[in-house]
Amino acid sequence: MQDKGISSAVVGRLPRYLRYLGDLKEKGIERVSSQELSRLMNVTASQIRQDLNNFGGFGQQGYGYNVDYLYKEIGKILGLDREYDFIIIGAGNLGRALGGYLNFERRGFIFRGIFDKNPELFGTEVRGVKISPISELDSFLKKNNIDIAVLTIPKTGALEVIDTLVDNGIKAIWNFAHVDLDVPEGVQVENVHLSDSLMKLSYNISRYADDNKNGDKD
Ligand code: NAI
Repeated sequence: MQDKGISSAVVGRLPRYLRYLGDLKEKGIERVSSQELSRLMNVTASQIRQDLNNFGGFGQQGYGYNVDYLYKEIGKILGLDREYDFIIIGAGNLGRALGGYLNFERRGFIFRGIFDKNPELFGTEVRGVKISPISELDSFLKKNNIDIAVLTIPKTGALEVIDTLVDNGIKAIWNFAHVDLDVPEGVQVENVHLSDSLMKLSYNISRYADDNKNGDKD
């Protein structure tokens, strides 16, 4: 299957396909046409066909898509056909919320450790995982094969731990700290800024309000 050189826009849409196909699977639906998927997802059928054609199509004329097969193939493309061990650095509100979220496990992301610098938190647990002192991060990483580090600490803290993570072979960083990280090639970084999403919402609220105001005048 050809999945090299796929645009990040297409890759960015794949998790949404996976969610909808997962819902169809749960309802016991075995096949779906691009038109049906289009109605459900509120994107054009041609967009769906174009997106999926990047990977060889998966569809059959007159049959549509086999839901289970497409779900598995998109999962494979997204690298979800294996498990990933992750740790969280920063056991504050955000770190604890992410550690407590069971659904990551269902997708194959296994919560292995959580670290903080606040001694009051040491030994308390997040979903059965003990919060450990950040001073133990290095030895923990040497003993455990961890794929992903989630950074839910302020930016100075993130800059402090990055070398330890990289030196111990972390493959990817899910970065919630508001700082751009300088990592060697081969270490994947996904920056998350929830406020970006909120700003999109505020943009849409004000655009909608403006459109309606203009509409009133017409
Ligand atoms: P919080 O204050 O509840 O938790 C931060 C935790 O990090 C504390 O337990 C603190 O002891 C620990 N910490 C600080 N420096 C550390 C270090 N060097 N090593 C280990 N632990 C350290 O804050 P909250 O709400 O959980 O947010 C965490 C960070 O994520 C904040 O810096 C915040 O700005 C950022 N954030 C980012 C969002 C995003 O969308 N990117 C959304 C919300 C928060």
